[in-house]
Amino acid sequence: MSAGYDLDRLGAALRRGGAARRLEFREEVPSTQDLAFTLADHGAPDGSVVVAERQSKGRGRLGRAWESPAGLGVWFSVVLRPPAAPPPVPPLLVAATAVALAEALEKVGALRTSIRWPNDLLVEDRKVAGILVETRDYEPAAPLLVLGAGINAGQAAEDFPPEIRSLATSVFLETGRAPDRTTLLAAALEALDRWRGRLAAGAHGSVEEAFRERAAYLGRRVTLLEGSGPLAGILESVSAIEGVGLRLPDGSRRIVRPEHARDLRPA
Ligand code: BTN
Repeated sequence: MSAGYDLDRLGAALRRGGAARRLEFREEVPSTQDLAFTLADHGAPDGSVVVAERQSKGRGRLGRAWESPAGLGVWFSVVLRPPAAPPPVPPLLVAATAVALAEALEKVGALRTSIRWPNDLLVEDRKVAGILVETRDYEPAAPLLVLGAGINAGQAAEDFPPEIRSLATSVFLETGRAPDRTTLLAAALEALDRWRGRLAAGAHGSVEEAFRERAAYLGRRVTLLEGSGPLAGILESVSAIEGVGLRLPDGSRRIVRPEHARDLRPA
């Protein structure tokens, strides 16, 4: 046991998905993402996991900071060496991870979440978990990615900084119970293995379908931040590969490709 995580149990869960997978636990790191890249540079195999009790410089998408206090959340990164395949593997991985985290939260935390395209897990409009997939010098022939996820587990409202208090939530705030973080992380890794297996088998459609089934805001008025500015409309479709489909106020339909869509908000 180390500071709230049962590392023996986590290690055993990890080995079920591949004997060589490495588990690296740290009390504190700037970001588990960076340590995962360093381990990958030193040959860490696919599926190796970095977990930290606390991150001093946790980061999210779009250059945002990710609050990662000790003892209250699950902050981890996974080294991914997927089979060589053309993009858009990264968007599908984000979608598969979002579905995997949603399943783990449901199983362990008894918490139903929706997925805000492309990577946020929500309860109502508040974020309970986020996903970040990063790559450095992406090599289609030997892709290396680091997938990071943060799950807010035990925070009370005052544990969140005032500026995100109305936007964030935790399993504890939603259910009155802080989940056992080892059990939650093991369930997330197990679900991730399962969904990655489907991706590797080419079952992209099943990932898209599960992603769509949990999509937040479908049929609702939203604002999409795209490269050229905000775009308002009714959300008609979401897809990891195709992007976001909107019905615009003039009645026309517009699909915004993933590389041009940044963020989705209720209007
Ligand atoms: C987001 O919602 O923008 C993504 C948040 C990702 C946070 C996790 S916590 C573990 C890993 N290490 C980081 O620095 N970020 C990710």
